Amino acid sequence: MQIIEEKSADLIDTQGGPGRYAVFGKPIAHSLSPRIHAAFSRQLSIPLEYQAIEASAEEFVGALATFAAAGGRGANVTLPLKQHAARLCLSVSERARQADSVNTLVRRGEGWHGESTDGAGLVRDITGRHGLYVRGRRTLLLGAGGAARAVAFALLDAGVSELTISNRTPEHADTLADAIGQPERVQTRYWTDLGNWGGFDLVINATSAGHSNQSLGLPASLLAARAICYDLSYGKASFGFLAWARSVGAEHAIDGLGMLVEQAAEAFDIWHGQRPETDAIFAELRAYLPGDAED
Ligand code: ATR
Repeated sequence: MQIIEEKSADLIDTQGGPGRYAVFGKPIAHSLSPRIHAAFSRQLSIPLEYQAIEASAEEFVGALATFAAAGGRGANVTLPLKQHAARLCLSVSERARQADSVNTLVRRGEGWHGESTDGAGLVRDITGRHGLYVRGRRTLLLGAGGAARAVAFALLDAGVSELTISNRTPEHADTLADAIGQPERVQTRYWTDLGNWGGFDLVINATSAGHSNQSLGLPASLLAARAICYDLSYGKASFGFLAWARSVGAEHAIDGLGMLVEQAAEAFDIWHGQRPETDAIFAELRAYLPGDAED
């Protein structure tokens, strides 16, 4: 597979006219991506159509081919399709290769180029929107699935001092740590031992437990003073972890809405060569979503 540098000029859509874009996933009906990209389109006067297309893993290849045949120029990919998308690309960026995850597809000739903008979106939300630093933080990554993998490399690139990965199934944490391959900065810990490894400055919840309303059963002694806790989910799925974070004294308890907006802005930049301003759509979505899950 070919590796192409991020934001390469030859990926930018120069065909003119309203390009066709979409987000694929299942479930997809409640995706905020069409609303976000419509706002970016208006802001930068770049006309486009952006629709949500429901596709399971089995349906994805066919649905994407139909979309391409109808002139589709780019797509976002969400659960459960990010690894599948990585498999079908003719070329990917280095960060998508590392993450083994593609959330942004760009039509190139007869095939697709794949990018992963989730990690950059997370770091940009923490540092840009919230004005917090990542560099030098002792970081705990909870989970070792697709979402964890997509952000682990970006956190290391952003300069966290160490990355501890803990996962309900410890073998999955070991697999991710091995794939990263920086034993001096990256280690794994048993979930059941986490109480013995306190003092984390940044705790990222990349598990899917909140989506099924399951508690993580985390010990109270995990956090250093002035710690940041960040849930990659937003809305109800993030409430349990963020409530725990506040109850054990986190200085900042942040949900993943800002990451969603930032990863979309990264994708928009890859497609159109211009990065939209994100504060207005973030504020609009924050007001619309239930609850106030941000400090
Ligand atoms: P995603 O793409 O959202 O990361 P995934 O690849 O299925 O989805 O990964 C889900 C992650 O959440 C995994 O790390 C999973 O742990 P296992 O590897 O043990 O399955 C974790 N997870 C899901 N439910 C959990 C729970 N109740 N407690 C702790 N971890 C949980």
